Amino acid sequence: MILRDYRPEDFARLCEIDRLCFPPGIAYTAEEMRLYIADRRTFTIVVEEPEHRIVGFLIARLEAERRGARIGHLVTIDVHPDWQGRGIGSLLLREAERRLHQAGAHSIFLETAVDNRRAIRFYEKHGYRVLKRIQGYYLGQMDAFLMGKALEPTSGRAPRP
Ligand SMILES: CC(C)(COP(=O)(O)OP(=O)(O)OC[C@H]1O[C@@H](n2cnc3c(N)ncnc32)[C@H](O)[C@@H]1OP(=O)(O)O)[C@@H](O)C(=O)NCCC(=O)NCCS
Repeated sequence: MILRDYRPEDFARLCEIDRLCFPPGIAYTAEEMRLYIADRRTFTIVVEEPEHRIVGFLIARLEAERRGARIGHLVTIDVHPDWQGRGIGSLLLREAERRLHQAGAHSIFLETAVDNRRAIRFYEKHGYRVLKRIQGYYLGQMDAFLMGKALEPTSGRAPRP
């Protein structure tokens, strides 16, 4: 597997994977995807299989400082359904955490649908904890969990919501 930075020619493949990972309405439109990737505060990384087809990607953002502290935000992490459960999501998440930490973030947060048990297990395995429930986060209908993790290697505590 090859982990590398996003390139503009990857765009259509990222949209395709996002549509395979999420139902209509929750999956990003091409315009939303374009805006997230173009945001100066974000970085986008991809994983290629040995024949150089992209099989997963992650978009993360370094948020504005809050109470004097920088916070990382996981915008999305998508692994093609045929490639899930093989460590690709973990590879992407660890690299994003490393980059955010290097950029000065002391913690990371993310939102995930309360019924996305696979994702919740995945994040818990990586040390994230549920901080609160956000009513109607998706389309005003589906609740999300706000999850978070402290990045200090010695602490391991989740940040306050
Ligand atoms: C969530 C997601 C990113 C995980 O990526 P992945 O490459 O499948 O994850 P990994 O192979 O690194 O697995 C790590 C852990 O995730 C969990 N997991 C992975 N596949 C799973 C499955 N099929 N069923 C249940 N748990 C699973 C397990 O806890 C696993 O730990 P284990 O290997 O010790 O069993 C991926 O499943 C995905 O893209 N899902 C659809 C999009 C999505 O929901 N994104 C998150 C939105 S917030």
